[in-house]
Amino acid sequence: MKLLVTGGAGFIGSVVTRMLLDAGHEVVVLDDLRTGHREALAPEATHVAASIHDAARVLTPQAGFDGVLHFAALIAAGESMTAPEKYWHTNTVGSLALIDAVRAAGVPRMVFSSTAAVYGNPVELPIPETAVQAPTNTYGATKLAVDMALTSEAVGHGLAAVSLRYFNVAGAYLHGDTALGERHDPETHLIPIALEVAADQRDKLQLFGDDYPTPDGTCVRDYIHVADLARAHLLALDAATAAQHRVYNLGNGNGFTNRQVVDVVREVTGHPVPVEVAPRREGDPAELVASAALARADLGWEPRKPTLHAIVADAWSFYRTHRLGRP
Ligand SMILES: NC(=O)c1ccc[n+]([C@@H]2O[C@H](COP(=O)([O-])OP(=O)(O)OC[C@H]3O[C@@H](n4cnc5c(N)ncnc54)[C@H](O)[C@@H]3O)[C@@H](O)[C@H]2O)c1
Repeated sequence: MKLLVTGGAGFIGSVVTRMLLDAGHEVVVLDDLRTGHREALAPEATHVAASIHDAARVLTPQAGFDGVLHFAALIAAGESMTAPEKYWHTNTVGSLALIDAVRAAGVPRMVFSSTAAVYGNPVELPIPETAVQAPTNTYGATKLAVDMALTSEAVGHGLAAVSLRYFNVAGAYLHGDTALGERHDPETHLIPIALEVAADQRDKLQLFGDDYPTPDGTCVRDYIHVADLARAHLLALDAATAAQHRVYNLGNGNGFTNRQVVDVVREVTGHPVPVEVAPRREGDPAELVASAALARADLGWEPRKPTLHAIVADAWSFYRTHRLGRP
């Protein structure tokens, strides 16, 4: 297939691009590099440095695209509460422009990076796709709006749409000469921040709130390896069906408190990780744990690295070699 990958210079989009190319697809990456990295771009993919707001320049009817995988977004839930307009403009307005371009060009299928944040504070755990969607932060709201637009697009215009709702993505893709890992700047995700502390690149790790109704008072999250997550996108492309909008959660179904994650980072790295308790962050749900039963049943998806230890070990390996330059 000829595929457009938006956000293909980012953490997850770069891993999916690598797997698509290895599977024999032709890939064009649309990424304006606002948070992505030029080094993460696959050399065999064509790179167009433009915003998703201008996707129609690339997605012309003549270009003959068979599908779009849409990763480009702003992703910091905390920032989405203090600068919400940036999130609505990029994540929602930008995605609607992309969907307009998909329709105008007659592209038949689209896979979208949705998020566990659409569920807000869940009433049932693990969370199925049918759970109430009531985001507690702007980031989740901007993504839920796109999920809803995709449902309309499937019904109204026959798009084959799939939303994949990721829980916390971590680890790194290490395969042959390829090493693709997490490098957000500023980093807002727990595992890479804990690794920075373990590597003496940061003094201490802040735990945002220790008075949540969880076993040790810190937030509980479900971690998924980026390679397992990426593989689900190739399965979703195949399963996409005209005039249907399918929605799948992707997680391992195991919840870990922030303190438990820090303990695993200490164990894997062999370094101390000093922590400091800070106030809760606005909009953080107490607990997010996925039921990915539907992805397993419908897509035949099976995670290969489901343990937190394996996820942290790969993230540390990438961090050591590619961020610190150590063997
Ligand atoms: N990382 C996670 O744990 C997680 C969890 C749930 C959902 N997601 C979703 O997965 C997707 C990818 O996340 P990531 O961690 O790889 O983020 P990332 O920041 O590493 O990658 C995002 C990429 O999109 C590009 N981009 C952003 N806005 C753009 C625009 N307007 N036009 C063109 N390019 C633009 C950036 O330059 C970057 O390369 C996002 O949609 C995010 O919401 C991520």
